[in-house]
Amino acid sequence: MPMRHWPERTDVQTITVFINITGRHACRFSRKRMKCVDDFRLRLGNSELVPIVIGGMGVDISVQQLALEAVRLGGIGHLSDAMMMDTADRYFGKHFTRDKMRANMASMNNPDKSGVRFDPGAVAEATRLHVAAAMEAKRGHGLLFINLMEKLTMNAPRETMQTRMNAALDAGIDGITLAAGLNQNSFHLIQDHPRFRDAKLGIIVSSARALQIFIRRNAKLNRLPDYVIVEGPLAGGHLGFGMDWVKYDLKTIVAEVLAWMQKENLAIPVIAAGGIFTGSDAVGFLENGVAAVQVATRFTISRECGLPEAAKQAYLGAEESDIEVNMQSPTGYPMRMLKRTPAMGQGIRPNCEMYGYLLENGKCEYIDAYGRVTHGGMDRKVAVNDKICLCTHMRNYDVWTCGQNTWRLKDTTHRLEDGSWFLPSAEHVFRDYQYSKNQQIKLPD
Ligand SMILES: Cc1cc2nc3c(=O)[nH]c(=O)nc-3n(C[C@H](O)[C@H](O)[C@H](O)COP(=O)(O)O)c2cc1C
Repeated sequence: MPMRHWPERTDVQTITVFINITGRHACRFSRKRMKCVDDFRLRLGNSELVPIVIGGMGVDISVQQLALEAVRLGGIGHLSDAMMMDTADRYFGKHFTRDKMRANMASMNNPDKSGVRFDPGAVAEATRLHVAAAMEAKRGHGLLFINLMEKLTMNAPRETMQTRMNAALDAGIDGITLAAGLNQNSFHLIQDHPRFRDAKLGIIVSSARALQIFIRRNAKLNRLPDYVIVEGPLAGGHLGFGMDWVKYDLKTIVAEVLAWMQKENLAIPVIAAGGIFTGSDAVGFLENGVAAVQVATRFTISRECGLPEAAKQAYLGAEESDIEVNMQSPTGYPMRMLKRTPAMGQGIRPNCEMYGYLLENGKCEYIDAYGRVTHGGMDRKVAVNDKICLCTHMRNYDVWTCGQNTWRLKDTTHRLEDGSWFLPSAEHVFRDYQYSKNQQIKLPD
């Protein structure tokens, strides 16, 4: 790879080129050497990393195989802890979901789910199983983090969050990325864990204001985050913005965060996320002061990604007009997805006894939406148009959430004779981010 052998990492390198056009004239011009992502490094503690982070994607989308590729190639990969008990059943032959349903049968026909309980021992075991297996399989000098969403309130927000964080640390995870919420108390919940100061802990924010709140709230702990991911409005999954997300842009928010940190004398690596589609996009951010980029959409169609083939092909076939941000998620956050997401308009019975990861005080917006259609009854299969039963449908890969740039994925691969799209390896996508220049995207062989 030629870029590996380029001499030094200077800001601007002038290359003088002589071209003999006709044999009589020599044309001389100068140009700047363009940089690629590999010219930069992310320093986190003792680790020097390729500044590429594959973001956490739940449920079971940024699977171990995908996350570990980023680690092997010297970057950072994320597991997702969304619905870990259910995924542990699949991967480790457990029966956490069945056991939970049996224990909570009493509320089956009741829209009030305040009696639904998660067994903290089972939550911890599921987390430990996932993390320990991934850490054991880990190769290379990159780092493996876990994406932990505060919004997965599980009818006992504090207790379950604490359990999940502690269990991930117990099982040896390199770092925890706090997501989907302000996470004001999350550091407090693990302050007694022996790894509290040694594990890498970071947070995703969508504004300088959210970061200020987090840092002020944790001032007494004398523990700053090791990194801050600034996620803009073009990301996949839930957005940290309202339905007016178009008014915001990642570059401006990153600049605001960097300016505030400079004013406060804070030297925390900032990682930009959301809509960074090419290596050149990433270089643009790295040259403007971020320490790394977090990317996801390009990896959704990789062979290692957990999405089923049908979803990957749907992403590849999508046009820009097929993508929307809507309020279908019962979390109350806007979410981006393909308009023809299979879950849309389905009216399955709320499955909180089995899942219920979004329950808070026995409530979930999907139960309310379902109740409005069934007039309070819980025993009919109907069409619910304004909300999705997110747990059930994410678990079944029926919510095709995606980044705003999903329609551009078709430019990153080629079509096969049968009309389907070729799926690149995660390594190919990672290397393309790492080495490409000039807005070019290398197609897979
Ligand atoms: C399919 C998909 C699922 C996602 N799920 C989550 C999630 O569970 N938690 C989270 O914090 N971010 C989630 N994200 C956001 C990514 O981790 C990442 O920050 C963002 O999508 C980066 O922007 P890009 O997709 O334009 O590269 C998801 C993104 C995608 C595309």
